[in-house]
Amino acid sequence: MIAARGLSVELGGCRILDGIDFAAHGGCLTALAGPNGAGKSTLLKALCGILPGLMKPDPRRVAYLAQDPRAAWRLTVEEVAFLGRIPHGDRKRDPVERALAEAGVAKLASQRIDRLSGGEVRRAMLARVFATEPEVMLLDEPTADLDPRAAFAVMGLLRAVAASGRTVVVVLHAIELALRYADRLVVLDRGRIVADAAPLVALPAAAAAFGLRFGEDGLPHLLPE
Ligand SMILES: Nc1ncnc2c1ncn2[C@@H]1O[C@H](COP(=O)(O)OP(=O)(O)OP(=O)(O)O)[C@@H](O)[C@H]1O
Ligand SMILES: [Mg+2]
Repeated sequence: MIAARGLSVELGGCRILDGIDFAAHGGCLTALAGPNGAGKSTLLKALCGILPGLMKPDPRRVAYLAQDPRAAWRLTVEEVAFLGRIPHGDRKRDPVERALAEAGVAKLASQRIDRLSGGEVRRAMLARVFATEPEVMLLDEPTADLDPRAAFAVMGLLRAVAASGRTVVVVLHAIELALRYADRLVVLDRGRIVADAAPLVALPAAAAAFGLRFGEDGLPHLLPE
């Protein structure tokens, strides 16, 4: 479980998060959605303690994928996955090989990360997180840059990870992925939580936060105003 109670964050003199009560539990895939600038990434950073003045959780138990995983390093994909073992202080091969396969980058293991496509980089960074085998995964837009098939594969995998009892929090703009895979959808708008419910139940609030409508012909989906 990972939680924040009454969390407010100010950056550059602006209140970015305003009295957030948030908890994510094992066995649950929690999606976090909301407009650009709502504070989703800031909430994830706060939860993993990388904002100043916050307690840092144990990096063996809580792993974080940044929204913008920069990859100018001259490391191979396998070496990037091995970075996920640093918190444990070991170089165990089994979790790394499993992680490379799960992230769909086993065939790219010996390729240099600075020469990969955007989606391939994202998957290599996911392999790093998986290699840690953490109890809690905080993933900021892990399906950005992924083709639809890869996005489904990653969400399916995260669902299985959550079903095994671990805690997964995923920031998503693709509401249809939240509807299909998440157990719960938390909607953030201007630094506040405006909905926290089963994805279908939270959908109207998500639509309102985006200034959109939602349609229910077939699968529910967002529509332009
Ligand atoms: N270090 C900082 N100093 C000042 N303002 C910041 C800082 N970091 C973020 N912000 C502001 O905080 C707000 C929330 O940013 P955040 O990155 O959490 O949004 P987000 O919900 O993740 O948006 P997106 O969907 O675009 O990724 C934005 O308006 C941003 O400009
Ligand atoms: Mg963000």
